[in-house]
Amino acid sequence: MRKIGVLTSGGDAPGMNAAIMSIAKSASRYGIPLVGIKRGYNGLLRKSTSIKEDLQELHLDTVLDIADRPGTYLRTARCDEFRDPAWREVAVKTLHDMEIDGLVIIGGDGSFQGAMRLCELGIPCIGIPGTIDNDLAYTEMTLGYETAVQVCTEAIRSIRATSRSHDRPHVVECMGRHCGDIALKAACATGAEIVVVPEVPWTVEEVAARLNKQIAKGNTRATIVLAEGCWDSLAEPFDMYGFLTSHGKQCFEGEPWSAMRFASVMKRMCGMIEVRSTVVGYTQRGAYPVAKDSAFAFEAGNVAVKLLHEGISNQVIGTRQGRVFHMPIEEALKAEHTFRHDLYNLVNDIDQR
Ligand code: ADP
Ligand code: F6P
Repeated sequence: MRKIGVLTSGGDAPGMNAAIMSIAKSASRYGIPLVGIKRGYNGLLRKSTSIKEDLQELHLDTVLDIADRPGTYLRTARCDEFRDPAWREVAVKTLHDMEIDGLVIIGGDGSFQGAMRLCELGIPCIGIPGTIDNDLAYTEMTLGYETAVQVCTEAIRSIRATSRSHDRPHVVECMGRHCGDIALKAACATGAEIVVVPEVPWTVEEVAARLNKQIAKGNTRATIVLAEGCWDSLAEPFDMYGFLTSHGKQCFEGEPWSAMRFASVMKRMCGMIEVRSTVVGYTQRGAYPVAKDSAFAFEAGNVAVKLLHEGISNQVIGTRQGRVFHMPIEEALKAEHTFRHDLYNLVNDIDQR
């Protein structure tokens, strides 16, 4: 290895900086210079006017200071051009020109698809799972997931306190794209009464009925936790525009679902009791990483450089039964996500009797 490159790609995730620090430490131990590639795969395409905007030598002293910070020092971005083989040839040329003989890619499944394509072009790559969504099935942990759950848990706890004071239900939306794991785990951690996720079909009427049951039992501060992708699994269409306008609430025709609109619908389906909503949103991504994420980042960064140094590539790093391991990218991407239906049922059933 003349030089190793590192990039962060896709949505940022708490723990990415800790991984960069760990990679810098390990590279320095092996005496291999480290190059930071900016804004995901974009940096390899050299589209900026100044090379420093695309690639930057990373010194250990610089990155030691950023290890505990949220976000990513290298910046991140999506890069649609990278799906095009012609642009990937440009990336390979950049790597050859810069004498970069191996890459560590920190990102989610899309970023790993890109890594796989680079491996096919003869560039040794190692992937570190960096996404809050926890949607990589081969691993028990992805960088940022534990932090995102912690942020949502804290938000829901605060919301339940004020909900109790005011005796009113609350709808809380958590991130996670097409994966309901953040919402489910935060619901479990807070004792929220209802959780709605993309993995399980549901209807608006059925959730309203469950909320009504809570209110009838005297639990007027019940919490409905929504995963942001839950609208994809609506089992039956619901005419939100027709319903709200006929109940005296202004709304735009064709307006997409949102936590706020859902709360408006719940209010009108549940005897006009006030229902409020909160979207936890990007505070989940920009949070300081919890220890578990930082510690995983530290170990994963170390393993990534060690593998490249030993001439092993085309691998992704993950955890299995709590231990860090690695496996081929292609195989890892074939793994199917197993949603915890048992926990989902527990959250939704336990208070409904
Ligand atoms: P994540 O890595 O978090 O899943 P995305 O799905 O947005 O995020 O993917 C991040 C980037 O990975 C994309 O913008 C693109 O540069 C690259 N990528 C995704 N899919 C492919 C693919 N099939 N081939 C090549 N590159 C890809
Ligand atoms: O993949 C991480 C994630 O935060 C998802 O949970 C969310 O759907 C998406 O990224 C948001 O992406 P953007 O930053 O482009 O709005």
